[in-house]
Order: sequence, then structure tokens, then C-alpha cells
Amino acid sequence: NKLVFSGVQPTGNLHLGNYLGAIRKFVALQEGNDCIYCVVDLHAITAQLVHEDLRGQIRSIAAAFIASGIDPEKHIVFNQSAVPQHAELAWVFNCVARIGWMNRMTQFKDKAGKDRENASLGLLAYPSLMAADILIYRGTHVPVGDDQKQHLELARDIAMKFNLDYQDNIRTSGLGTDIVVGEEPVHAFFPMVEPLIDGPAPRVMSLRDGTKKMSKSDPSDLSRINLMDDEDAISKKIRKAKTDPDGLPSETEGLKGRPEADNLVGIYAALADKSKTEVLAEFGGQQFSVFKPALVDLAVNVLSPITGEMRRLMEDTSHIDAILKKGGERARVRAEKTMNEVRDIIGFLR
Ligand code: TYM
Repeated sequence: NKLVFSGVQPTGNLHLGNYLGAIRKFVALQEGNDCIYCVVDLHAITAQLVHEDLRGQIRSIAAAFIASGIDPEKHIVFNQSAVPQHAELAWVFNCVARIGWMNRMTQFKDKAGKDRENASLGLLAYPSLMAADILIYRGTHVPVGDDQKQHLELARDIAMKFNLDYQDNIRTSGLGTDIVVGEEPVHAFFPMVEPLIDGPAPRVMSLRDGTKKMSKSDPSDLSRINLMDDEDAISKKIRKAKTDPDGLPSETEGLKGRPEADNLVGIYAALADKSKTEVLAEFGGQQFSVFKPALVDLAVNVLSPITGEMRRLMEDTSHIDAILKKGGERARVRAEKTMNEVRDIIGFLR
């Protein structure tokens, strides 16, 4: 049975990369799966301790989830700090994981910069908390953008090492199941999480530079489309988006070595729920002067209802607060069940 889990940090404005790489997939996965979507506020303080209006940021991510079409009655929407078991399991994982594993994370290296000795210990242990987020619900499927792939591989390593280190205790507790990892049979308590990174826009690139990821921290606002941008801003940013002088190719092969063209076609495909091949079948041979206005129309059609609904939800936050509160309560019950089992496996007295 699939248990879908994912999280988004309440830091800065959401952009098209967050929407296409993550939130739009969260919405699609609701049908037929049990889903838990989390605003990861504990992660938000790893890189920067003090945030202006953190509560407002948390609410606005939750509002984006709801406005995009996530149903908080059928699924669970909550903020991480409301469920202390995440941090508790992360502590156990800090003892399972090795410092070397954390030091190898490219996101840690990027965020810590040159002065690594001065980065917070939380930033180093970030992937351990991320593994705990998923595994406290014994999550199996995790929709994310391409930049989270390495963190999810680490989550698998942590789960595997826990399973192997506690193999005997898992057996005597009767809490495990037999799974096969690669060729190896393991009696596992934690499942091996599967990243869901597929789709035409797993890595949305900057509109100013097709070799850089679209990101919250890019100093140029023209580099990204924010979820709260109005029609004029979206139109301006797409019209000004960097392109090369050629028209669109008729097959995806022709996008090789053309990162800006590839990016815009990927964005169109993701917004239209099509493949890049289908988009090129429609626009192959056309100039960007034709393609860009079509992309503006599509982006505005998809995004403006979401933006409008987010604004409405943020006017009176009592509705969002009630959703988060109820989601937190439901999540806590499930998290405590797993945590009790982990305590038994480890051998803590309770
Ligand atoms: P965060 O908050 O940086 O980003 C949220 C989601 O947006 C995706 N994303 C992108 N996708 C495509 N193109 C882009 N340019 C782009 N930029 C961001 C991210 O991949 C992510 O899916 N560590 C996570 C949050 C997290 C988490 C978890 C995710 C904490 N615990 C457990 C999954 C499961 C993060 O910082 O995402």
C-alpha cells in the first residue's frame, strides 16, 4: 500500500519550480493513495534562525496546498513542529547516520558555503530530519523536485542501516516484514522510500539562465515566476525569458544543448499535463514569438485561480489554522504509534 509523504519549507515565496516539481504532483497523487503533506517549519530554522513572520509563511504554504487542490479532509496537511515525534525520530537517525554521509550532501556544501565550521549543526543533520519526516509514517513514496534526490537516497541508507543494525530486535519484536533490497533479503521495520521525480519539469530552471535552478534565493525576480505573481508579472517574465534565436524543434532530440528552450517546453508540458514530445508536435517549427504568448496564456490560466484562492484563504487565517490544527492531531496519532514501536525495537523503557 502506498503512503505518500512530502514537505515544503516555509521560507520565502513559492515559485513555479516548487509548484511543478512538487505541489502539482501532490494534488495528482491524492487519487487512490493515502497522502500526508507537511509544512516543514523545523527545517526552516536550519539555515537561518530568525524569520520575519514565520507563522505567516507557514500559513501561506498551507494555503498554497489547499488552493492548488489538496483535500485536507481526505488527506493530512499539517506543520512539522506540531508533531514532536519528527524531531524524536530524527535524534535516533542522527545516531544511525554517519557524519561522512552528511558531509557529502551537495545541498549542505552549497548552503554552508566556505565557512563550513560555522554552519549550524542542524544544517548538517538536515537530511536526518527529512528521513524522519517520511519514515515516522513509514512513508513509501515521496514526490519531490530533482534537487531532493540525494537526500532521498540518504533516507534509504538510513532506513537500511536501522533495519540491519536492529535486525535481531526487529525480529523478536514481531514488528518487521521480509523485503528484498537489490538481491538481499532483509527483515525490515522501515520501508525503502521511492522518490517520485518523474514528469516533464523535475528541475525548473531560471528564466534568465537555463543552466541555473529556479530558486527563492536568486537575486533577480525576473528569474522566477512566483505563485503570487499577477497576470502582468507572469506575462512580463515569460516575454523577457532568455531564449536562443532558433525556433522550436519538432522532436525532443532537438532540445539538446538548448537549456532555455528545453526549460520553457518542459514548463509548458507540465502546466498542460502533456509530454514534451506532445508539446513539440504542436509547436515544432514555430518561433518563440508564437510559443511565448501561448505559454503566458497557459500559465495565467493555471496559476491565477490558485493565486486568487491563496489570497482569499490568507485574508482570514482561521480556516487555515483549523486545518493545520486538525492535521497535526491526526498526524500525531500515527507518528506516536511508529515512535512507540521504535522505542520497543531500540529497547527504551516506556
Ligand atoms: P523546498 O522547500 O526547498 O522545496 C519544495 C519542493 O519544491 C521542489 N523544487 C523544485 N522542483 C523543480 N524545480 C525547481 N527549480 C525546484 N525548486 C524546488 C523541491 O524539490 C521540493 O520538492 N528538503 C525539502 C523539504 C522536505 C521534504 C521532507 C521533502 C523536508 N522534509 C520530506 C520531501 C520529504 C526542501 O527543502 O524543499
